Amino acid sequence: MLIKKPGDIPSSEITSENLYLNRRKFLAVAGIAATGVVGSRRLLDAFAVARPQEEKPNTWEEITGYNNYYEFGTDKDDPAANSKEFRTKPWTVKVDGLVKKPADYHFEDLVKPYKLEDRIYRFRCVEAWSMVIPWRGIPLAEMIKTFEPLPSAKYVQFTTIYAPNEMPGQKLAILQWPYVEGLRMDEAMHPLTLMVTGLYGKTLPNQNGAPLRLIVPWKYGFKGIKAITRISFVDKQPRNTWQISAPDEYGFYANVNPDVDHPRWTQSSERRIGQFRRMKTLMFNGYADRVASLYAGMDLRKNF
Ligand code: MTE
Repeated sequence: MLIKKPGDIPSSEITSENLYLNRRKFLAVAGIAATGVVGSRRLLDAFAVARPQEEKPNTWEEITGYNNYYEFGTDKDDPAANSKEFRTKPWTVKVDGLVKKPADYHFEDLVKPYKLEDRIYRFRCVEAWSMVIPWRGIPLAEMIKTFEPLPSAKYVQFTTIYAPNEMPGQKLAILQWPYVEGLRMDEAMHPLTLMVTGLYGKTLPNQNGAPLRLIVPWKYGFKGIKAITRISFVDKQPRNTWQISAPDEYGFYANVNPDVDHPRWTQSSERRIGQFRRMKTLMFNGYADRVASLYAGMDLRKNF
């Protein structure tokens, strides 16, 4: 994200529960012709096609072999190669801040009370590539209810483990460590927001964020913090890692938005890993029907 330009390999896509939504989006997008060409980024977009009616999930190999996880290196194949020895057992998650039931949970005790759900979501990286991923996890809202946040809790902050001896990237000053992310409370409580523990019905591989990572499907992929070891309820908007690193390029909200370009590349189209042709990016990554109301009245250019 700091170093590379977006897009490398082509790519495919869907979401059983959102199939109907895709159909509607498809109809909307199919009617739109390629827009005027202003410079090379517009040229890229001009070749982008509307989405297929059904988007099929990416393969296990694609999802586990093409990753962003800077604790294990900055190349897409580094996380798979360098995270093999990373220890995810035992694992504790600290829940603290403005909450009635702060506690240190063993991972197993944290997840035991809930039923795991399988959900196929579109995943859109800020670097303008995308995948369709069958996650397994727990709606974050269910966990949060158990912790009983106080009314003064306005945001949730998530922190990745700090383990430089196992995460070689943390010995380098590429980013501020440990990686931190945050959500507004209503975003955290939204039924689409998932605490992920698995992939394709199996335990989450290390390179995808084992044992516990966040997925917010209408936001850019960097919001999906991996290897979470702390969940804090706070009253102020947390500053997330990418925002600290480059505040002009990455914001707190990071909602997928084809109308607001990254300063260095277009966000109006994307390259689906495994496919040849670029496709148009959808507002809120295609989940607008479910989430647009969260941002009613907000200037999404300012709150990028
Ligand atoms: N979490 C941590 N701790 N460190 C990271 O470097 N990268 C983010 C996000 N979560 C990252 C992270 C980015 S930029 C993306 S696109 C997604 O993880 C990639 O998730 P995936 O590898 O499972 O596709």
